[in-house]
Amino acid sequence: MNDRLLIGTATAAYQVEGAGGGRAPSIWDTFAARPGAILDGSDGSVACDSYHRLDEDLDLLAGLGVDAYRFSLSWPRVQPTGRGSADPAGLDYYSRLVDGLLDRGIAPMPTLYHWDLPQPLQDAGGWPVRDTALRFADYAQAAHSALGDRVTRWATLNEPWCAAFLGHGSGVHAPGIRDATAAFRAAHHLLLAHALGARAMPGADTGVVCNLYPVLPESPEFAAAARTVDEIQNGLWLDALFAGRYPEAVPRDDAHAADLPLIRGSAAWLGVNYYTPLRVGPALPDGRSVPDQRAYPGAGDFGLHPRGPLTTMAWEVDATGLEQVLLRVAAIAPDVPLYVTENGAAYPDARRLPDGSVDDQDRIAYLRSHLAAAERARAAGAPVRGYLVWSLLDNFEWAYGYTQTFGIVEVDPATRDRRPKASYRWLAAEIAARR
Ligand code: FCB
Repeated sequence: MNDRLLIGTATAAYQVEGAGGGRAPSIWDTFAARPGAILDGSDGSVACDSYHRLDEDLDLLAGLGVDAYRFSLSWPRVQPTGRGSADPAGLDYYSRLVDGLLDRGIAPMPTLYHWDLPQPLQDAGGWPVRDTALRFADYAQAAHSALGDRVTRWATLNEPWCAAFLGHGSGVHAPGIRDATAAFRAAHHLLLAHALGARAMPGADTGVVCNLYPVLPESPEFAAAARTVDEIQNGLWLDALFAGRYPEAVPRDDAHAADLPLIRGSAAWLGVNYYTPLRVGPALPDGRSVPDQRAYPGAGDFGLHPRGPLTTMAWEVDATGLEQVLLRVAAIAPDVPLYVTENGAAYPDARRLPDGSVDDQDRIAYLRSHLAAAERARAAGAPVRGYLVWSLLDNFEWAYGYTQTFGIVEVDPATRDRRPKASYRWLAAEIAARR
């Protein structure tokens, strides 16, 4: 507890790697090919080309002096069809990544699933079917047996709320389904996958990463809607993982209830991704809000009302929200170590220094204030162990394509050349000062 906070950066396979090395297709390749699915019509086929630029990325991390690097394994790179034996060439890429990190004194923090389900598993029903959770456990075992000699801390899933409710409720993420029943089934099978995956990796320190938000009603009239939003966004995951139950907003299902004892206590640590609070108020005049109400089945008609200052994602900037979500988890699960596994901001990056690099003072201010919020939560007793910036690189921002830049390193869209921003130098100095 007295140890200093571990500081790092994060990325995810589909967002940075590209399809180099013959990566098999995932649901994000299929989804991105759908006309209109991605704001700028782009996809992750090249992304930052990190598959071919591994050494450059490793050197950028070394230059920062980070303690840890959070990345994800592409399931279809490791197991092209989602079943059967692992592809040694796919595993070799991650083996080189892990070795490169360890050589530089950086702790690898892999996530097994950051949304890129092998397409053949989607064709067999995807997350709404139970078998996908069993397939995930096999994949977890294969990854752990290849890398477990060098990697101790693993995350099973990234943001299962997004995979379930953006993927199957509002349909703005792959696989682009709009069906509340499918979304709740997916949510349960994701949690089951996490629990079975953790069990398939004996000796590992295995956690799961959730995106948590303070949910605030704009007026008493919206208290009920806000409660439902909170239950689906936060409570569903926290209650299942730490109390072995589902909140009221989750439809009853006996088969699901029978799995809850297995899910309870299955996270040795919790990753908290935090960006913004959610303000629940009147439905918006144009009927639009991001995420929209279909991502919260049962919450009724409402809209989200971020208050300025906003990032280019139109996300409200409020560092106190990070402190609140960390303290909330600490109150429920006081002994579970917490890592802020993602925090960061997309900004226009329009200003440049004389040397040509991006002068992102807004991003520096965002990161600084949120790091301070994590420290406050820690000082108040929350077992916060780490803070990881999203993201090392400007990358493929899902449905927003390349229109949103979260990186502390700029990536030239044409050449993929990397150039550190002012925030990169700020983080390096912050890390050095803390040592
Ligand atoms: C999170 C995702 C991550 C990134 C950030 C901005 O929801 O986990 O991949 O897109 O948002």
